[in-house]
Amino acid sequence: MKKVRVSLGERSYDIVIGHGIFSALGDTAKKLELGPKEMIVTSKQLWPLYGKPVQDSLAATGFNVCPATMNDDEESKSIQTVILLYDKLVENEFDRNSGIVAVGGGVVGDVAGFAAATFMRGIRLVQVPTTLLAQVDSSIGGKTGVNLPSGKNLVGAFYQPTLVWTDISTLKTLPERELRSGLAEVIKYAIIADPALFHTLEENIRSFSEASTDTLIDIVSRCCSIKARIVEQDERDRGVRSILNYGHTVGHALESLTNYTQYTHGEAVALGMIVAARVSREIGAIDRNIVEKQERLISAAGLPTRINRCLDPQSIVHQLTRDKKRLAGRTRWVLPKTMGEVFLTDDVPLDVALRVVKDMTTSNEEKA
Ligand SMILES: NC(=O)c1ccc[n+]([C@@H]2O[C@H](COP(=O)([O-])OP(=O)(O)OC[C@H]3O[C@@H](n4cnc5c(N)ncnc54)[C@H](O)[C@@H]3O)[C@@H](O)[C@H]2O)c1
Repeated sequence: MKKVRVSLGERSYDIVIGHGIFSALGDTAKKLELGPKEMIVTSKQLWPLYGKPVQDSLAATGFNVCPATMNDDEESKSIQTVILLYDKLVENEFDRNSGIVAVGGGVVGDVAGFAAATFMRGIRLVQVPTTLLAQVDSSIGGKTGVNLPSGKNLVGAFYQPTLVWTDISTLKTLPERELRSGLAEVIKYAIIADPALFHTLEENIRSFSEASTDTLIDIVSRCCSIKARIVEQDERDRGVRSILNYGHTVGHALESLTNYTQYTHGEAVALGMIVAARVSREIGAIDRNIVEKQERLISAAGLPTRINRCLDPQSIVHQLTRDKKRLAGRTRWVLPKTMGEVFLTDDVPLDVALRVVKDMTTSNEEKA
């Protein structure tokens, strides 16, 4: 078992990472003086696998536990789902001393987190992430929220959990494509901050799910540490936290141009990282060798390295100019400089971006 502390003054908390640790959650929750009432928010499918064991552990240590299931598709990441959770909390007479335990992937975590942030102006929240993406990314750092019909994540709150309880045994039941999608974020951490992690991934990525428990715990906790250190410096995402968006500028463009149907988030981010590294190479900011190493690792993870030729390069680049994270009307890029170091720039000529995107769209010798 490993522990990563997120130090944010009175909002500090631990991320506990282990294998087969659900039964120990109750004791830790007791020590943190959570409760006495906890609502477990999860999906119908995840309830028997992970919701129930979490409930049993909390009930065994004296908590009064109430389960609540929600749909966890992206369309259900909505204010309507949050209202259903509020209703359930009121129905079960939850008050400000009670809390929510979110058991699931990023959708459950973001929705349940937002409900916890806002019900009675904030009740305590425990994140129990069950996807790789949620374990290394969405459960940490306090971003909670929902989508609006007009766009993703447009309503939300920064609200740190009291505890993150990560049991990597949940990865065994995760669909292969979801696992690979999470791997894109893991690769992202290696490029932005951890050359040694990159090396570990080179050795393990092909048969990631077969890696030893110790290796998986080590990889997940290194990602958590990187995110924790960045969040500690910039909790509200006004500065250095934006380096976590490496690969996301182009990734978001690809996701929205395909109406979130063609690529998973991780697949889009993988392509975005390749575009960013090639752009960095074009402007002379990185060695070709590193660009190629990154591309080989992404390919070995089973993620796409070429953009589907159905997509028009011009539209992709145009979409970048509409990104909500633009700075004074200019697209803000996170570009790699060397292994483990990135920099921010809004000085990438659009024709350079277009050349790179065109090259990745037309050379479709690899799978798109
Ligand atoms: N808050 C943040 O900082 C942050 C960061 C990144 C992404 N996100 C959000 O996270 C969401 C994506 O989250 P995600 O990638 O975790 O996917 P997800 O929550 O959509 O889950 C994907 C699918 O996997 C299933 N699933 C979850 N755990 C499982 C398991 N252990 N075994 C079998 N099936 C399992 C879910 O039921 C769902 O069908 C997006 O809405 C995104 O906006 C938030």
